[in-house]
Amino acid sequence: MSHFLMVPDLGSDGLTEALRLAADSKRDLTEYAGAMRGQKVGLFFEKPSTRTRVSCEVATVELGAHPVVLKADEVGLGKREAVEDVGRVLDRYLDMLAFRVFDHQNLVKMAGSSAAPVVNLLSDRSHPCQALADLETIAEHMPLDEAKVAYIGDGNNVCHSLMLAGAMSGSEIRVAGPAGYEPGADIVAEASSIAAGSGGRIMVTRDVAEAVEGADVVYTDVWTSMGQESEAADRIEMLMPYQVTRELFESAADDAIFMHCLPAHRGEEVTNEVLEHGRSRIFDQAENRMHSFRGLLLYLNG
Ligand code: CP
Ligand code: NVA
Repeated sequence: MSHFLMVPDLGSDGLTEALRLAADSKRDLTEYAGAMRGQKVGLFFEKPSTRTRVSCEVATVELGAHPVVLKADEVGLGKREAVEDVGRVLDRYLDMLAFRVFDHQNLVKMAGSSAAPVVNLLSDRSHPCQALADLETIAEHMPLDEAKVAYIGDGNNVCHSLMLAGAMSGSEIRVAGPAGYEPGADIVAEASSIAAGSGGRIMVTRDVAEAVEGADVVYTDVWTSMGQESEAADRIEMLMPYQVTRELFESAADDAIFMHCLPAHRGEEVTNEVLEHGRSRIFDQAENRMHSFRGLLLYLNG
């Protein structure tokens, strides 16, 4: 069993297989129900969550495993005791440790100390479980290796995972945002290198029209991520030219779909009209968080 901190940890074959298990168990759960009977999955949250908390807990139960949900103030990761000690204790009780944390380095420490697989449920650096649901949602619309995906706005954790997952799938990922809010240079380099081998393509631009032209998917996420609340006013000012409006969305391909990981800040990164557009897939995408986490559990469980 391996850890899942960043999308490339799965490898291309693993990614394909996790997505196949997600789609197959979405079609018919019968053959998979009980596949993890008797196992215990820890779900730990240092930040709020609706989709991740509920979809992961439900997927765990569907496979016959038992979820144990922990909140940050109960554990005091790195405060009440060292992160590594938490990893070395919890792996004595639990078969898998899934963590949502502020600092990605704490996941790295967990993975270094836990004998049980560690799964990233969102960190400041990445949100790989979200990217699995994103790929599943795009694949329901069109073949991944033909998809042109325009991500508009803040080059954040969700953007990072989408870039890496898209690159592994042979998709074209175009990121448009203002100076100072680009995705991390190391992520751009890694995604570009992966894309070079997969037939995918990575583009980072300030020009929103260039990113959206002919795109099959228009994707955005909040401008102020959890933990960045003190920067909200500056972020709104800098990112407003990148708001996804109806006019912008409709300048993409005629059958383009709109995606957002949610929660949305309606009227900031995207208008209500786009969220409620006939080609918005946001709630299918949210549902796919459950199917894709089930696919991931099945894959990691062998
Ligand atoms: N998309 C997502 O991770 O949502 P939550 O923060 O509600 O879990
Ligand atoms: N970028 C957002 C994603 C929430 C699911 C955040 O980190 O708050």
